Amino acid sequence: MTDQEAAAELAQLAAELARHDRAYHELDAPLITDAEYDALRRRNAELEAQFPHLARSDSPSVRVGSAPSGAFGKIPHRVPMLSLANAFSPEDFAEFCARVRRFLGLAADAPLAMVGEPKIDGLSISLTYENGMFLRGATRGDGAEGEDVTENLRTLASLPKTLRGEAPALIEIRGEVFMTKADFLALNAAQAEAGQRLFANPRNAAAGSLRQLDATITAGRPLSLFAYAMGEASEPVSATHWDYLQRLTAWGFTVNPLSERLPDPTQAEEFYTRIGQVRATLPYDIDGVVFKLDDLGLQRRLGFVGREPRWATAWKFPAEQATTILRDIKIQVGRTGALTPVAVLEPVNVGGVLVTRATLHNEDEIARRDVRIGDTVVLQRAGDVIPQIVSVVLEQRPEGTAPYAPLTHCPACGSLAVRPPGEVVRRCTGGLICPAQTVERLIHFCARRAFDIEGMGEKTVVEFHADGLIAGPADIFRLKTHEAEIAKREGWGELSARNLIRAIEQRRTVPLARFIFALGIRRIGETNGKLLARHYGNFENWRAQMLEATTVGSEARSALGSIIGIGETIAEELVDFFIEPRNRAVIDELASLLTIEDAQTVAAADSALAGKILVFTGTLQTMTRPEAKARAEAMGARVTDSVSKKTDLVIVGAEAGSKAKRAAELGVRVISEAEWSDLSRVQ
Ligand code: IVH
Repeated sequence: MTDQEAAAELAQLAAELARHDRAYHELDAPLITDAEYDALRRRNAELEAQFPHLARSDSPSVRVGSAPSGAFGKIPHRVPMLSLANAFSPEDFAEFCARVRRFLGLAADAPLAMVGEPKIDGLSISLTYENGMFLRGATRGDGAEGEDVTENLRTLASLPKTLRGEAPALIEIRGEVFMTKADFLALNAAQAEAGQRLFANPRNAAAGSLRQLDATITAGRPLSLFAYAMGEASEPVSATHWDYLQRLTAWGFTVNPLSERLPDPTQAEEFYTRIGQVRATLPYDIDGVVFKLDDLGLQRRLGFVGREPRWATAWKFPAEQATTILRDIKIQVGRTGALTPVAVLEPVNVGGVLVTRATLHNEDEIARRDVRIGDTVVLQRAGDVIPQIVSVVLEQRPEGTAPYAPLTHCPACGSLAVRPPGEVVRRCTGGLICPAQTVERLIHFCARRAFDIEGMGEKTVVEFHADGLIAGPADIFRLKTHEAEIAKREGWGELSARNLIRAIEQRRTVPLARFIFALGIRRIGETNGKLLARHYGNFENWRAQMLEATTVGSEARSALGSIIGIGETIAEELVDFFIEPRNRAVIDELASLLTIEDAQTVAAADSALAGKILVFTGTLQTMTRPEAKARAEAMGARVTDSVSKKTDLVIVGAEAGSKAKRAAELGVRVISEAEWSDLSRVQ
């Protein structure tokens, strides 16, 4: 390779890696897999080693992450936030140990105590505490300065707002914000239901959730935190990294419980193997193991080279990828008619798990990657959870394949499938006549958060529906008359049949909020179910108001749209649902079979808050914002967003900002959350 060729490739690598850094760090939407990214970086390092005089000033090896985006304030890191060198094999790891020993002038077999920690696949953050109080928090950004995500971080339950016990006057603590696999799946399911964009993996979901301009959105996202490193500290905290981790725990942080002190590299190798074996069973994604020299004195002597410390390395796990053939693209029909394409694959083993299906997200995704039936595709288990198609091997595309054409009709009921402008999801318009939607709705109806009927799981619902035992939800409460028949079914018996009937009978009384949620109306999740229940108080009133709201321009219609937390889109969905006579019939049938409990509201007329204008500010500890608003409205008050002369009352939660100040300036009455709780207590 000539100097000229090397320089050209280095320039190309710098540009390419910068593009991928931006996609990953700023847009939370990576374009390539981590393994591909690592390969590019390795190639860059190889070339720089071979042609040191050609190393660029903007070389990826001296740059970390990418510059913070403009949306957040910037925070300079007192101590730079660096990256880690990678090892990919036992040889790489042995070389790391040899380098450390050489640098320190130790014998080739001198013991080298390390701490091993799982390498969490999340995003790193730096937390500053002054006199034990959480002051601010920032993302890594470009390593020198990050984005100010203080308010977002405050919403994390696992972030100590004050440090327990003695702590240096100033200390920076580093750690990883992440989302568990289960929380990621639940979030994506909710996103899909709401027609919002899906996250590619838990890491992107965590990054996307933390980097929200509105911290209340972050508050609703299940983010976790492991603390693992030190930035600046006004006084020494410990002599070893292991003792530092103990201090972190004592201050109230969560340290990964799998972390271990390893007296020697032999144990380190064994630790790597052990963590690799449990990797798939962990509730969160890890992509390797981090080894850090335990002795902080030695760490200081070793120092840094470029963007990486010499005293640590990240030994990565191999990417869990495999190649297989896409046999078919099937369409799954969801409860609200959302059509989701699913890849049917030639079964293949990916990282020890047999994969036969993979998600294709939506038709835009299929088009973007031009995935075709018959293609050879590269599969990856995204964080060990859902298999994804990473790319298509175009060289192996057989003759005569055609681009994927979205279905125009629902595969389950033949109704028209439409994709509203601006939405990524195509939907079946069959509604109640679509058997696939019916089954999904029945599954939802019986689910834990809805009617919670023990024994009516997905499999039972599918079978009972297929055999004509249940056509709609009301039939569930008529199953009693079929007890003998159920007992005779394969896999059942008298005891199971009796248990099922008992479980159903126990659910004949249901709170209004659960009842509304169980109906499976689009965009009516648990929170909106509660909001509606609190607002309307009882079933008869809710039903009557919803019916009236189906009339355009009615008072009930405008009242519905102005319930805070409901809004126009949700109001539309409710109205659409009630316009359909068959939906009303289902509701009435259920009402005749069930006892629907009233929700707790406070009579608006004689409440002290009737007609008053309220503003909430800061973080409430005892109830959510929507709940507080619903309560206020149930008492006849109106809740607005900004404080003005017309405001009657401002309720301040923790860390209230400018609104509380403005209220004081205007002489508006300000009360604490405790006073608010007393005032709004349900009688
Ligand atoms: S220590 C100077 N420990 O990996 C050393 N990093 O590739 C600072 N990471 O930016 C990092 N788990 O986002 C450290 N137990 C762990 C980690 C960890 C995950 C991430 C972190 C860092 C990246 C480096």
